[in-house]
Amino acid sequence: MKPLNMRKNSSPGFLFSFCGLDGCGKTTMLTRLLNDLKGDREVFLTKQPTNAVRTSEIFRNYMDYPNHESYDYRSLSLLAASDRLQHGSKVIEPQLQMGKVVLCDRYFYSCLANLLARGFPKDRWIYEIAESVVKPDVAFFFDVPVEMAVKRVRSRPDEKDRYIDMKLQYRLREAYIDIAKQNGGVIISTERSEDECYKIVKKEVERVMKHEH
Ligand SMILES: Nc1ncnc2c1ncn2[C@@H]1O[C@H](COP(=O)(O)OP(=O)(O)OP(=O)(O)O)[C@@H](O)[C@H]1O
Ligand SMILES: [Mg+2]
Repeated sequence: MKPLNMRKNSSPGFLFSFCGLDGCGKTTMLTRLLNDLKGDREVFLTKQPTNAVRTSEIFRNYMDYPNHESYDYRSLSLLAASDRLQHGSKVIEPQLQMGKVVLCDRYFYSCLANLLARGFPKDRWIYEIAESVVKPDVAFFFDVPVEMAVKRVRSRPDEKDRYIDMKLQYRLREAYIDIAKQNGGVIISTERSEDECYKIVKKEVERVMKHEH
């Protein structure tokens, strides 16, 4: 795997992305950061993919059922990549240009992680699309053993019976780590306490925000 050649953020705002397995702690960390920053800076909280993709038939098929024979995964991957491109340039970038701090729950990296984990390591188009996407000032990757992530997901009352492809989760975990290493991401193990993890998040954010763009 080669690094993604994303565009440098040259806007006055800052972009922080949060990626990792379902249940790894993205929303927990992002919410703490939001609460911490909001007195001092204007913060814009957002997520990818958008609801347009989340509610699509192909996305729901992959998320909710084990049989995907009617679909080619790259079709969903392209749909998600297109959604991220649109969301990046028409939702995130205007906020960055206004000088806001943008926190994005999942990012373009998740598209690559899923493409790799679903067995398409040779597809090059994802790298070309990435060149049009803004590189986060810090890309956080939260890492946790698959069993722990799944336990956290299953502890949510409305997700206790959710379909989860376990083999895919193992491959995804590896993919996220590789992507983080290749792209200068910050890997944080959320096996530790929330407070310990959040301290690392805060330190990284403060380090980057000391220097205006
Ligand atoms: N160090 C930690 N960091 C973050 N969350 C933790 C940590 N330790 C325990 N947790 C718990 O793990 C759960 C993580 O859930 P959260 O909704 O933040 O995950 P998520 O990555 O956003 O999941 P999803 O992808 O399904 O949206 C929470 O219940 C949180 O309290
Ligand atoms: Mg979440």
